[in-house]
Amino acid sequence: MARPLALSKRIGIVGVGMQVPSKVLTNQELERTVETSDEWIRTRTGIRERRIVEPGMATSDLAVPAARQAVKSAGLHGKDLDLIIVATTSPDMMFPSTACLVQRELGAKSAVCFDLSAACSGSVFAIITAWHYLLGGQYKRALVIGAEVLSNYIDWTDRSTCVLFGDGAGACVMTPVARGGILATDMGSDGTAADLLYMPGGGSKYPPSHASVDQRLHFLRMNGGEIFRLAVRGMADSVQAVLKAAHRKPEQLECCIPHQANIRIIEAVAKRTGLPMERMFVNVDRYGNTSAASNLIALYEAAQEGRIQHGDLVVLVAFGAGLTWGSVLLEW
Ligand code: UT7
Repeated sequence: MARPLALSKRIGIVGVGMQVPSKVLTNQELERTVETSDEWIRTRTGIRERRIVEPGMATSDLAVPAARQAVKSAGLHGKDLDLIIVATTSPDMMFPSTACLVQRELGAKSAVCFDLSAACSGSVFAIITAWHYLLGGQYKRALVIGAEVLSNYIDWTDRSTCVLFGDGAGACVMTPVARGGILATDMGSDGTAADLLYMPGGGSKYPPSHASVDQRLHFLRMNGGEIFRLAVRGMADSVQAVLKAAHRKPEQLECCIPHQANIRIIEAVAKRTGLPMERMFVNVDRYGNTSAASNLIALYEAAQEGRIQHGDLVVLVAFGAGLTWGSVLLEW
């Protein structure tokens, strides 16, 4: 459902950061471990390489440096934050939340912290959640992080999924602003399609056991074709919904920052919304699908590369397991 701006108050993104592991896993390396080819991966997905953590590294190890950079670029310190939301499907532990672990490292003593589970829509859902908290007026400085170490949940013998995903973290700081900021948001969910993309093991339904490991329940499972079809429609509809809510036209958009799952999905969304590919930000070639981290890593790079400038109309749009989808339209 699309929600237009509450005119009395503007909330903006005032700092961004990202962190990816230094280890690069190329398509050529995957050719040596599963029956695939660089050519298949590039033409079907647009991915050339992805980043993978070293053994022993956890999601917070990526989230913390991304967060530090975002907080610093906002001109703030950890102690200034009053809200930390970490969007992730691969938390360090079942509990406590990864957000609390980030809080500890940042010394953000005043912050309220929790994790948010919305799979690949995590960054967008967390930004919209923080937006509502800040609009309420009780919270003034929010840190939003999308972070994943999905490589630990990938069946590295399954060519249909192992070529797609990568590890990483993106972060942003949100505060009230005098001008610009978020103009409209849209979110949706459809639990009837929950079995199109899921990881059955590790939760209360199939807790870890010898049997659950033998049955490979701790790896993600995906109906790629169906997700593809729904992602194109869901993301295009969501972009159109926020534009309509804010009374803007597609041609007014300087940059669309879509969830980075597959270049063909991004191309199809561009076509459906009438946006030229030059307006679509793409980095799926270098990181693959980093799930909840994807939109925030892309936002950081778009800002770094000067693809988005002060005053530009920008949309973040995502789609993921759940199903979940959403958009944030903002003036940068
Ligand atoms: O983040 C949100 C969640 N995820 C997504 O949005 C992903 C959405 N889905 C996709 O991106 C695409 O559906 C995939 C990239 C997963 C698959 O692309 P596709 O064009 O839909 O291929 P397909 O699944 O229809 O498979 C085509 C063929 C099959 O062989 P047969 O049955 O035609 O003989 C697959 O077995 O390609 C085969 N295949 C591969 N071949 C080489 C599947 N994976 C690979 C591979 N290397 N890695």
